[in-house]
Amino acid sequence: MIITSLFALALASFAPVAYSQDIVYDSIHNATTLTGTWSSGSRGVMTGAGFANPANMTFTYPKTTGVSFSFTDDGFYEISRYRFNGNGSEPTCITGVIGWVHGKYTLNANGSITMVPLGDGFQQVQDPCAAVSNFIEPYNITETYVQWRIFQDPTQGFKLHLFQFDGAPLAPQFLVSPSPNMLPTTLLRNTSAPTTVAKRSLEKRSGNGAVANGWTMGAAAGMVVAGVASLIL
Ligand SMILES: *[C@@H]1O[C@H](CO)[C@@H](O)[C@H](O)[C@H]1NC(C)=O
Ligand SMILES: *[C@@H]1O[C@H](CO)[C@@H](O)[C@H](O)[C@H]1NC(C)=O
Ligand SMILES: *[C@@H]1O[C@H](CO)[C@@H](O)[C@H](O)[C@H]1NC(C)=O
Ligand SMILES: *[C@@H]1O[C@H](CO)[C@@H](O)[C@H](O)[C@H]1NC(C)=O
Ligand SMILES: *[C@@H]1O[C@H](CO)[C@@H](O)[C@H](O)[C@H]1NC(C)=O
Ligand SMILES: *[C@@H]1O[C@H](CO)[C@@H](O)[C@H](O)[C@H]1NC(C)=O
Repeated sequence: MIITSLFALALASFAPVAYSQDIVYDSIHNATTLTGTWSSGSRGVMTGAGFANPANMTFTYPKTTGVSFSFTDDGFYEISRYRFNGNGSEPTCITGVIGWVHGKYTLNANGSITMVPLGDGFQQVQDPCAAVSNFIEPYNITETYVQWRIFQDPTQGFKLHLFQFDGAPLAPQFLVSPSPNMLPTTLLRNTSAPTTVAKRSLEKRSGNGAVANGWTMGAAAGMVVAGVASLIL
């Protein structure tokens, strides 16, 4: 009797700890490995060659908006993104943002992912209503995703769900290739200390309280309709 209840007590005190501390990467959490190239929607946006030229900070614009993530077995990631942000009060002020970044990721014990950039990431912002309507700037922000899951969709195959720092889901991405299509995982442009322009826009972002994931906060313009953005993606 005593032994049984002690055992139960032990279980009761251990169980919650186990659940809150360590994510188990099994087939329920992730039906396949994270390694590979993933892309949302019509798969028009992809990592790897054909999207960004980090050396001269140019993009080849894809036909559709979307997002693509790649992960290697040895801890590297790459992200390509292209999206439009709506503006509730000025419906004609639609901002276009295209971005590319790569770096090293860490799978944390609590199930989150931390992505630390190498320093050669960049983005182009087109905002018809802003004083400067089209500019390119460095993008070097550490991103945190609080959770990730991979399910198997009966028709579309493996589907990756990433959840932002605030818990909001990104558009689901489908497995395009189990071997990641990525640009070389080294610094692809010589970078110096962050420029004044980059600094200013970073300060703007921190004013929004969203440094954890600058991208989702509408980048340099500091404007975002998160709901609209995720609908479009
Ligand atoms: C994901 O899940 C599979 C089995 O479902 C496992 O073999 C793999 O190591 C897991 N972890 C990662 C990080 O992908
Ligand atoms: C940038 O680099 C790419 C790849 O090397 C090249 O095709 C493109 O012409 C370059 N663009 C400019 C504007 O220099
Ligand atoms: C999860 O772990 C990471 C890395 O240790 C940490 O930065 C983050 O705050 C943790 N998140 C929660 C919700 O505990
Ligand atoms: C980019 O961010 C990383 C991580 O915070 C940092 O180590 C690196 O120096 C930064 N590079 C530039 C060019 O700002
Ligand atoms: C960076 O600069 C060094 C020294 O000038 C040069 O050897 C290297 O090739 C450059 N790297 C890139 C990616 O341009
Ligand atoms: C909408 O556009 C106006 C005019 O450019 C701008 O002042 C305002 O900050 C924008 N609002 C949002 C939520 O993006």
